[in-house]
Amino acid sequence: MSDLTTKYMGLTLKSPLVASASPLCESADNIVKLEEQGIGAVVLPSLFEEQLTLESLTIDADLERGTDSFPESINFFPDLHTYNLGPDGYLELIEEAKARVSIPVIASLNGITAGGWIEYARQMQEAGADAIELNIYSIATDPLQSSEAVEKGYLDLVAKIKENVRLPVAVKLSPFFSAPANIGKRLCEAGADGLVLFNRFYQPDFDIEDREVVPSLVLSRPEELLLRLHWVAILYGHVDADLGITGGVHSAQDVVKCLMAGARVACMTSALLRNGAQHAGRVLSALNNWLDEHEYTSVSEMCGSMSYNAVPDPTAYERGNYMKVLGSYTL
Ligand SMILES: Cc1cc2nc3c(=O)[nH]c(=O)nc-3n(C[C@H](O)[C@H](O)[C@H](O)COP(=O)(O)O)c2cc1C
Repeated sequence: MSDLTTKYMGLTLKSPLVASASPLCESADNIVKLEEQGIGAVVLPSLFEEQLTLESLTIDADLERGTDSFPESINFFPDLHTYNLGPDGYLELIEEAKARVSIPVIASLNGITAGGWIEYARQMQEAGADAIELNIYSIATDPLQSSEAVEKGYLDLVAKIKENVRLPVAVKLSPFFSAPANIGKRLCEAGADGLVLFNRFYQPDFDIEDREVVPSLVLSRPEELLLRLHWVAILYGHVDADLGITGGVHSAQDVVKCLMAGARVACMTSALLRNGAQHAGRVLSALNNWLDEHEYTSVSEMCGSMSYNAVPDPTAYERGNYMKVLGSYTL
């Protein structure tokens, strides 16, 4: 048996497989099952800025004012009090999970502005969370909003959250930056202890009969991992933070690839939702076999071994390789 232990943002995880934020981690019973299967840590589903802001605005008296401030929120959340257990239920979930499992429990906040709501991070800390993952899900629809302004908002948000807590904070990033390595580095300078690549944007579909924009949630495919491997391999060694991968992790081989690229943790949601918590146990057992067959005694030995700085030919990660790949296609 190899040593599956990994260090992530100062936390010791018994395995590098993390259950990322999803409804599966919304109940302590499921979190117990995931721990039994060998999961290294769980990330709870996100609490949204809008949930917290609306709560702080004495909703009943000032509902009109609340909807004016957050026009999207009312349409988006069918019931702001109970979504993801709501703010009070969320803290209870942290407490219950911490009482029942010994693996780290990571709370998640989803927001884009450095408003008063982020003081809630401190309550997550008091409830016993081991870390906070910040899911920055901004969709810059305003053509007058510059990329500098969007990025400044992200950096301010991370700095503000770090001011409020002593917990490690990971940022779950989107792939849509002109310079992902640069924003990754600046987020770390702003205080991020971890970077998780990449958020999946749930893109709305069109109902062409009723001409409506309809929500569509499609679980991931393993091919989605490649984009994450590419950027983690590039970032590894260039940022002062631990890296995680989310998006397309389905098998033990995928976990090996994440580690080799330079990630400390490989996060899984779609495969767990599809196959249940037992899937984690099967993946970890296959990971152990793979490590034995390849004579690795620990997962930490392989961390970053395929990163940009470590591979003999780093141009494999660069523009030139794109031309080579296109040129290799034969009709
Ligand atoms: C039903 C569902 C709910 C999710 N809820 C959250 C959430 O609350 N916060 C968050 O950061 N990510 C959320 N995610 C994204 C996952 O944590 C994960 O990053 C994404 O699904 C990619 O990983 P995968 O390929 O293993 O599914 C959700 C995903 C799904 C499918």
